[in-house]
Amino acid sequence: MRPALIAVLFVLSVACVPALCSREEPPVLQPGAPAETRSRFAALDDVRLLANGLLQLGQSLREFVQRTKGQINDILQKLNIFDRSFYQLTVLASEIKEEEEELKKTTVVLKANNEEIKGLSVEINSKVDDILQEKIRLQNKVEGLEKKLSGLLQGLPTSEQVAEINGLRTLIHSQEQSITELLQAVRDQSDQINHQRMKIKNLEEKFTVNTLAQETVERSPDIINVEAPTLIPFLPPSSNSNAEMNLSPDCTELFNRGERVSGVYTIRPNGSEPFMAFCDMNTDHGVTVIQRRRDGYVNFDQTWEKYENGFGHFQGEFWLGLRKIHSLVARGYSVLHIQLEDWKQSKHFIKYRFYLDGPESNYTIHLTHLSGDLPDPMGNHTGMMFSTKDRDNDNHRDVNCAHNYTGGWWFNACGDTNLNGRYFHMRPKGRSERRRGIQWKSAGKASYSFKLSQISVHAGAPPSSTSAAPDTGVFLRSSTNIL
Ligand SMILES: *[C@@H]1O[C@H](CO)[C@@H](O)[C@H](O)[C@H]1NC(C)=O
Ligand SMILES: *[C@@H]1O[C@H](CO)[C@@H](O)[C@H](O)[C@H]1NC(C)=O
Ligand SMILES: *[C@@H]1O[C@H](CO)[C@@H](O)[C@H](O)[C@H]1NC(C)=O
Ligand SMILES: *[C@@H]1O[C@H](CO)[C@@H](O)[C@H](O)[C@H]1NC(C)=O
Repeated sequence: MRPALIAVLFVLSVACVPALCSREEPPVLQPGAPAETRSRFAALDDVRLLANGLLQLGQSLREFVQRTKGQINDILQKLNIFDRSFYQLTVLASEIKEEEEELKKTTVVLKANNEEIKGLSVEINSKVDDILQEKIRLQNKVEGLEKKLSGLLQGLPTSEQVAEINGLRTLIHSQEQSITELLQAVRDQSDQINHQRMKIKNLEEKFTVNTLAQETVERSPDIINVEAPTLIPFLPPSSNSNAEMNLSPDCTELFNRGERVSGVYTIRPNGSEPFMAFCDMNTDHGVTVIQRRRDGYVNFDQTWEKYENGFGHFQGEFWLGLRKIHSLVARGYSVLHIQLEDWKQSKHFIKYRFYLDGPESNYTIHLTHLSGDLPDPMGNHTGMMFSTKDRDNDNHRDVNCAHNYTGGWWFNACGDTNLNGRYFHMRPKGRSERRRGIQWKSAGKASYSFKLSQISVHAGAPPSSTSAAPDTGVFLRSSTNIL
C-alpha cells in the first residue's frame, strides 16, 4: 500500500510541473535583434530560461517533497496507531476466543445436565401417573364403601329412634353432671363438718387456756398452714365430640341457653379443654365466678402452681385458677365484676373491662374502669404481672409483696389491693395486720379487711355499653340454695 501511495504522489508532482511553469512569465523576445543572432541568443536565452525554470522546478519539487514527507510521516504515524489498535484488537479477539472455548465447554456440561433433568422429569411423570392410577383405584374403593354404607344405612334406625337416642344421650349427660355436682356438694359438706369440728376444738382450747383477750382472730393456726385442695383440673377431651361441641363457652352463654340455677357446670371456652366452673345466675345474666371468700376456711396463701390451677371448694371459698381465667377471657370483651361486703353488711362493687395475658407473660392483667361504687385503685394496674410468694413479679425492688401481704395477686409496689389476702373474722386491731387482709382501698386510706368477696367475669358487649346496676352475687345467699 505504501509504495503505491508514493508512486501516485510522484505522478501528481510530475503532472504539476506545467502548472508551476505557467506561473512563470513567458520568455520575452528582444524586439530589435536580427533573426540570426537572435536565434543564437535566443538559444542561449532559452537555455538560461530553461535552467531558471529547472531550478525553480527543483525548488518546488524539494518543497513538495518536504511537504509530502511530512504528510507521509503523518500517515505513517497514523498507520502506527492503527497497527497498535490492530494489535490490541487481535489480543481482544484471542481473549474472546478463549472465552468462547470456555463457554463451549460449559454448554457441553449444561447439555449433559439438561439430559439428566429430562431423565428425571420422565421418571417423575411416570411416578405421577402411578399416583394418579393409585388415586383412581382408591376412589373406586371409596365408592364401593359408600355404596355398602348406604346399603347399611337403609337398615338403620328411623329419625324417631335417632331422636330417642339423642334424648337419652342428653339425659345421661345431664345426669353425669348432677352426679359430679352431688359429689362436689358431699365433699363440701364433709369439709364444712371438719371445719365446724375444728372451730369447736379451737373454742375448747380457748376455754382451757383462757385467752379471750385476743381480739384478732385469724382462722385457726391449723388452717393457716394448710395447703388448699386443688380444684378439679381441666377435664380430658371427651370421646363424644358432639357433646363437647354442645358445651357452653361460659356461664353467660349457659344463661342465654336457659339455665337459671346457680351452681357448678361444665364449660368449654373457645380453644380450651372443658372444665368445671361455678356459675352465678342472677335475674338478668350469668357470670363465671373466679374467686370467692366468705369464711376463711380456705387458706389463700398458696404457691404459683396452686394459683395457676385453682384451689378451694366451689361451694365454699375458691380461686378458679389463672389458666382457666385466661381461657375464659381469651375471646376479648370480658367484664371483671368485683363484689365486696363489709362487716356492716353493706355491699359494694366495681366493674372493669378485663383481659388476662397467658402464662408466658405471667398472666399480665389489663383493666379499664367501667363502673361501680368502690374506689378504683386498680385502674392503672394494666401491665402488672401476677405474683405469689414463690414467684415475685411485683414492682417492688426489695420486697416480695406476695410474701409480705400473703396470697397471690397482681401486686405493684405493693399497691392498695389484695382480695386474696388473709381472712380475718373480726376487724384486726393492728394496722399492719389489717393491711394483710382482704384489701381494697384508695391510696392513703386506712386498711380494711372485707367480710365477703366475689370476683366474676362475664361476656361484655363489644361496644362500650356500661350497665351501672349493682348485681347481687350468689355469695350473699346460703350455699344450700345451690343444690
Ligand atoms: C373460636 O376461635 C376460632 C379461632 O380462634 C375462631 O375462628 C372462631 O370464630 C371462634 N368461635 C367463637 C364462637 O368465638
Ligand atoms: C415471669 O416470672 C418469672 C418468675 O418470676 C420470671 O423469671 C420471668 O422473667 C417472668 N416473665 C416475664 C415475661 O416477665
Ligand atoms: C396507681 O396510682 C397510685 C396512686 O396514684 C400509685 O400509688 C400506684 O403506684 C399506681 N400503680 C401503678 C401500677 O402505676
Ligand atoms: C411489709 O409489711 C409490713 C408489715 O405488715 C409493712 O409495714 C411494710 O410496709 C410492708 N412492706 C411493703 C413494701 O409494703
